[in-house]
Amino acid sequence: MNLVLVGFMASGKTAVGRRLARRLGYGFLDTDHWLEREMGCTIAEVFEQKGEPYFRKLEAALAASLHKLENHVISTGGGIVTTPDNIESLQRAGMVVFLNADPEEIIGRLEHDTHRPKLKEGDLRETVTRLLGERMPLYLRAGVAVDTKGKSANRVAGEVIHLVVERREKEATQAGGEPTGEGTPEGAPTEGGGEGNPKPD
Ligand code: S3P
Repeated sequence: MNLVLVGFMASGKTAVGRRLARRLGYGFLDTDHWLEREMGCTIAEVFEQKGEPYFRKLEAALAASLHKLENHVISTGGGIVTTPDNIESLQRAGMVVFLNADPEEIIGRLEHDTHRPKLKEGDLRETVTRLLGERMPLYLRAGVAVDTKGKSANRVAGEVIHLVVERREKEATQAGGEPTGEGTPEGAPTEGGGEGNPKPD
């Protein structure tokens, strides 16, 4: 099984994702980092040189191939949910968790950001408020929400693991067996993984 993290820019997807992967003994893939490696340049450069629609196409192709991974934590770019087919692709890839961060915390973390192309123009507060408003229904549709306000990345990772255990117990019960406790992912090996490579088509 894979775990897919969605959420707004600076909501902690990468930090939480890395911790989750370590604790679960899963591989880790960050879609932005993977695309940067594939393209050989930064996302800001792609936006600048080829435009956002080009980036979204690459992102969608990657999203569509993520189901090929196994036992990975996948953290995604904040705008991935805006391409209509992507939510289905992510749900096909694994259990989708929405890291729901507080707008004030997001603004605080992004105040001095210089590399995110979506924040290059206009007033930061206005941009974050507008994009969050547009995207919130998409994030909520994509996955089960975890509130991150005031919590450390480790604590959020712990809460996500709790959700995974619950999901596994539920699936085991639905499959006809009694809950065994085997859903506890802490028992998983902690070696292996690394940055995954889903080899997009
Ligand atoms: C974007 C978020 C970024 C990156 C790109 C576009 C967005 O990822 O994919 O700059 O539209 O919100 P992070 O969420 O990791 O910042």
